[in-house]
Amino acid sequence: MPNRFYITTPIYYPNAEPHLGHVYTTICTDAVARYHRLLGDDTFFLTGTDEHGIKMVKTAEGLKTTPAELVERNVPIFQNLWPELDITNDDFIRTTSSRHKAGVTAIVNKMLASGDIYLGSYSGWYDESQEEFVTETEAKANEYKSAVSGRPLVKYSEASYFFRLSKYAPQVQAYIEANPHFIQPESRRNEVLSKLRAGVEDLSISRSTLTWGIPLPNDPGHVIYVWIDALSNYITALGYGQADDSRYRRYWPGVHMIGKEILWFHTVYWPAMLLSIGEPLPKQVYAHGWWTAEGKKMSKSLGNFIDLEKLRGIISRYGLDALRYYLLRAAPFGNDLDFSDADFTKAFNELANVLGNCLNRTIKMIGRYRGGIVPTVAGELEQIDRDLIVRAQRIGQDLASAYEKMELQQAATLGIELARATNGYIDSTAPFSLAKDPAKAPRLDTVLNLSAQAIYRALVALLPIMPHKAADGLKQLGVDPGGKTLDQLLSMGLAPGHRLGEGQPLFPRAE
Ligand code: MSP
Repeated sequence: MPNRFYITTPIYYPNAEPHLGHVYTTICTDAVARYHRLLGDDTFFLTGTDEHGIKMVKTAEGLKTTPAELVERNVPIFQNLWPELDITNDDFIRTTSSRHKAGVTAIVNKMLASGDIYLGSYSGWYDESQEEFVTETEAKANEYKSAVSGRPLVKYSEASYFFRLSKYAPQVQAYIEANPHFIQPESRRNEVLSKLRAGVEDLSISRSTLTWGIPLPNDPGHVIYVWIDALSNYITALGYGQADDSRYRRYWPGVHMIGKEILWFHTVYWPAMLLSIGEPLPKQVYAHGWWTAEGKKMSKSLGNFIDLEKLRGIISRYGLDALRYYLLRAAPFGNDLDFSDADFTKAFNELANVLGNCLNRTIKMIGRYRGGIVPTVAGELEQIDRDLIVRAQRIGQDLASAYEKMELQQAATLGIELARATNGYIDSTAPFSLAKDPAKAPRLDTVLNLSAQAIYRALVALLPIMPHKAADGLKQLGVDPGGKTLDQLLSMGLAPGHRLGEGQPLFPRAE
């Protein structure tokens, strides 16, 4: 039976249009999902929108509309963007959908049945941009402003139901301590642990002053706090608490890909909720870094905001796959990243000069010297041949390790580095001079064969990162990767006698 793999993005607030940050997380998740599908894993990839909460209400007020109208305006933008960017999500969950509401109601009913919810009253500082209460100490330290958005905190006082987070905090802490791979990268794990060790209070989970949300089943005068509602999406989308929960039984637990600012919710609230309802905890939570643009925080007023218009401009000029490659290679996965036009050009040139060039020269040489047919390795291998063979052979293993550790920068560059090594090999072995001497025909056969095998493997490795360009390149080599697993593609190689296709520039220079 194939392995099962479930991966999610955060569900995004549709209070505005998506931007680089949302696109980045979604592309990263897509690359990992594509890798697992290529392995032959039974893969499920979920994304969606987080439509309730004060943030939506406030934005709607500001735009003189209702939250319901606001979501109907903005959600389709998210829903249409993912197919436009060739994102391979299997489902899209909306928190205003009836299936989600049914699932959340079932979850909260279970929490009530476990005796984990009680009525209290709350008075405190609320960060509306993050949808969370902050302690007096934290509020003071940040001058009563949001630590994330900088917006002023708001004083709230109201009757509220509470979830016994403090009851589960020790179990959550023990789980994080016992499972070093649960929170990645490692440095983020320490952040969560030290916050947990400092002590955790129960969580206010209802609002009686709001009507835009899912009613609390035991007291419909309250709506459920947006993080309880939102985190539940990861299982309500799979049918948890609904008539058909077969997907839930098939895919849960999964892996969550998120930005670093929402790590606490995913690694403390969410596991505590799952413990309360007696369900397995997520396998892993990966928190990636934040993008700045040209060295500064992205902002509309600074004019450095990477919005859809800017992204579409890049895609129409350089192609979607170049954008994917650029985003994934921009920094070691987990670190903060900076978007710059100069860096983008560098990444694009790398694709053209290293990958495109390697493919092109290999196809041209085999065309010119061997009529487009992959020759057989002949005679004794030299050290330089063995080095390239070892490197090319290792790529499946290297990829597995990169994806396992979610080193997405590594995953993106492995194929490029192999192409670079192949270019170096071609430069050193100089097939164009070997071709001049008929006595060196066997040596030329070997060099051409090994170059072709290496660029082939580089392209296979890039399938999850640059699905179109990699498949295009493979087609130029006369291979259709469709429907084949990574193992099949790697073990097939390019057999001697195989006929290559037509060579064309893989990354034509933009006008
Ligand atoms: N709705 C919540 C998440 C609920 S998940 C159960 C939310 N939504 S959001 O629209 O604000 O999206 C946050 C996510 O967008 C981040 O976690 C990250 O994935 C992505 N990014 C938004 N801005 C970003 C950057 N500047 N840089 C990188 N990613 C960031 O929070």
